[in-house]
Amino acid sequence: MEQKRSSFTGKIGFVLAAAGSAVGLGNIWRFPYLAAKYGGGIFLLVYIILAVTFGFALMTAEIALGRKTGLSAVGAFKALNKKFAFVGYLAAIVPMIILPYYSVIGGWVTKYLAVFVSGQGRAAAADTYFGDFISGVAEPIFWFALYIGVTALVVLFGVEKGVEKVSKIMMPVLVVLSVFIAIYTMFIPGALDGVIYYIKPDFSHFSVKTVLAAMGQLFYSMSLAMGIMITYGSYMKKDVSIETSVHQIEIFDTGIAFFAGLMIVPAVFAFSGGNAAAINAGPSLMFETLPKVFDTMYGGQIIGAVFFLLVLFAALTSSISLMETVVSIFCDKFKWNRKLTCLIVFVGALVIGLPSSLGNGVWKDIRILGLRFLDFFDFISNSVIMPLVALLTCIFIGYVIKPKTIADEVALTGKFKNEKLFTFVIKYLAPICIILILISSVLDVVLKDGFF
Ligand code: PHE
Repeated sequence: MEQKRSSFTGKIGFVLAAAGSAVGLGNIWRFPYLAAKYGGGIFLLVYIILAVTFGFALMTAEIALGRKTGLSAVGAFKALNKKFAFVGYLAAIVPMIILPYYSVIGGWVTKYLAVFVSGQGRAAAADTYFGDFISGVAEPIFWFALYIGVTALVVLFGVEKGVEKVSKIMMPVLVVLSVFIAIYTMFIPGALDGVIYYIKPDFSHFSVKTVLAAMGQLFYSMSLAMGIMITYGSYMKKDVSIETSVHQIEIFDTGIAFFAGLMIVPAVFAFSGGNAAAINAGPSLMFETLPKVFDTMYGGQIIGAVFFLLVLFAALTSSISLMETVVSIFCDKFKWNRKLTCLIVFVGALVIGLPSSLGNGVWKDIRILGLRFLDFFDFISNSVIMPLVALLTCIFIGYVIKPKTIADEVALTGKFKNEKLFTFVIKYLAPICIILILISSVLDVVLKDGFF
C-alpha cells in the first residue's frame, strides 16, 4: 500500500478533480427530482443551509483527514485510532453500492445521447418513450454494460487525466448550456408557476423527510461519507488552502444542481399543467421532461445531443472516481493486480447492477422495503449508510481526535476562518441532527412498509 503517492499539480488541479467527482448525475438527474418531490423551494432552502454548514464541515474534515495522514479512508482512520478503522470499511461499502446503479442511469444517458445524435430526439419526447425503454430487458442492459465498460476501460488504462482535461472544457460549457436551457424553459407557457414552486419556500411542504432527503442528497452530491474526499485529500499538497478549495467545490456543485433544477422543474409544470402526479415522477424526471423541452426548441435536436454529451461526461468523471475507489480498495486489501481487479469490479458491478436495471420492468414487482431495486440501493446508501458514516466521522473528530487536530491541518495555509462553525457543526449540530434523522427513517420502515 505504501507506494509513492502522486499529488495534484497546482491549486486548481485539486479543486477540479474533486469537483469532477462531485458534479455528476447527482446534480443533474437526482437533485431536480428530489427538489420537485420534496416541496420545491423548501427543499432548496434546506439543501443550501445544509451545504454551507454540514457540507462545509464534513468536506473540510475529510480532506484534512486525508492530507494529514496521506492515506485513504481505512488507513486514515486506522492511523489516528485503531478502534475506528471500521468507519473506513463502512465508508468503503458505499461506492460499491452506488457504482452499479449509477451506471444503470449512466446507460440511460448514453442511450439518450445516441438517440439525439441519430436524429430521433423527437420520438423521445413522446410520453411513453422513456417508460417503454427502461422497462425493456436487453436494451437498457446493453447501454448499462456499455457505460460501465467505458468506465472500466478508463480506470484500467489510467486515462483519467485525459478525461479530466476534456471535462475541464466540458464543465464550463455545461454550466452555460444549463443556464441557457433554464432561461428558455421559463418562457414556455405555464413554466413560471414551476419557477415559483422551485424557488419560493413553502413551509407547509416542510417535513422530516425533506431534511432526510436533502441530507442524503448533500452527501451524495458532494461525494461525502464514502472515503472519496479522504483519498483526494491524501493527494493534496500542503500549500493549498483546504478552506478555499472546499468553498469553491461547494459553490460549483450547488450551482450546477440549482440550474439543473431550474431547467427541469419548471418544465414539468409547463408540460403537465402543474399536475402533482408528474411532480412526483422521481428518477425518470430528467429523461421525460427535457426531450419535451428540446422538442419545442429551434435546433432542439442538436442542443439535446450536446446536452446529453455533457451530462455523459459529468457522469463519467463521477463513475470513474467511484470505480477507481473500489479498485484501489481491492488492490490495497488483497494485493491483486490492477488489471484483474478492474475486470473483477467490472463484472461485479455488472451483476449487482442487473436488478436495478430489470427492476424498472420485468422485476418491478419485486420490492425491498416497498422500494424497487434501484431506489432501494439509492436509499440504503444515501439515507442509511452515508448518514451513519458521517455521524461516526463527526464523533471521531469531535470527541476522539478532537476538532483541533483537523483545524491545525487546515490552518497550515493561514487562518481557518470558519473554525468556530466547523467545531460547532462537528461536535453538536451534525451528530444531533443525524441521529434524529436516522431514528425517524428507521421508524418509518418499522411502522409502515414503505418509505416515501
Ligand atoms: N457526486 C456524484 C454526483 O453528484 C456522485 C458520486 C458519488 C460520485 C460518490 C462519486 C462518488 O453525481
